[in-house]
Amino acid sequence: MGYTKRIDTLCGLLSKTDVFADVGCDHGYCTEYMLGHGLCERAIFSDVSKGSLAKAERLLAPYVRAGRAVSVLGDGFYGVDESVGLVLIAGMGGCEIVSILSDVKHGFMPKKFVFQPMHDGEKLRRYILENGGYIDKDYTFEDGKFYEVICGGNVKERGQVCDEHPYTDAEYEFGRDNIRQLPEAFQKRLKKLIGNIDRYLKEPNLQEESRRELLEKRARFEGVLRGEIK
Ligand SMILES: C[S@@+](CC[C@H](N)C(=O)[O-])C[C@H]1O[C@@H](n2cnc3c(N)ncnc32)[C@H](O)[C@@H]1O
Repeated sequence: MGYTKRIDTLCGLLSKTDVFADVGCDHGYCTEYMLGHGLCERAIFSDVSKGSLAKAERLLAPYVRAGRAVSVLGDGFYGVDESVGLVLIAGMGGCEIVSILSDVKHGFMPKKFVFQPMHDGEKLRRYILENGGYIDKDYTFEDGKFYEVICGGNVKERGQVCDEHPYTDAEYEFGRDNIRQLPEAFQKRLKKLIGNIDRYLKEPNLQEESRRELLEKRARFEGVLRGEIK
């Protein structure tokens, strides 16, 4: 696909749809991918920042001229309604994504979504599963840094029910596919976090309570790595 590995990974998770919405599009690469590969008939690309949106407007100008893409300067789902087939929100914090989904005026649970939160993945998973959403892919990948991706949709739109098992606390915290399959990138991320904790633990002036908390966290990460915490 020729973008960064992160963008390529996101593009690889986007499925064919009628109308695609890229919220917080910045450069607009994912919208370019969807339109250029015939994966959507029309696209809405939006951003709250005029400067960011201008980049996407330059890239997508031929599609806008052809009436296949619409640019929206606005916050969250402003200009994007529930009829869109697939929503991408990537590169924002999990709490920001929750605030977009739960916005009193414009919020909704999309028919299908790909979310890539930069942090607070747990809060986003809880919001999705407690507010009419389902998750069918939920894992960590690496592109220099570690990223989480959460894909799913609105339960009202789902045909066959795939997995009705409730998420465990560990699955909320780390992602279901990570807990069940322990993919390489996730193991690497946990080992890195354990390494960070080991460095903090060497700090001579560390408060006793902090040391205890760090040791608990370390034990939890080790338990997840060994597949003992599900
Ligand atoms: C780090 S960039 C990510 C861009 C692209 N989605 C990606 O994954 O590469 C985050 C973008 O989201 C935009 N953004 C942040 N909060 C937003 C909101 N509430 N509504 C719309 N756009 C938002 C920012 O202006 C910025 O362009």
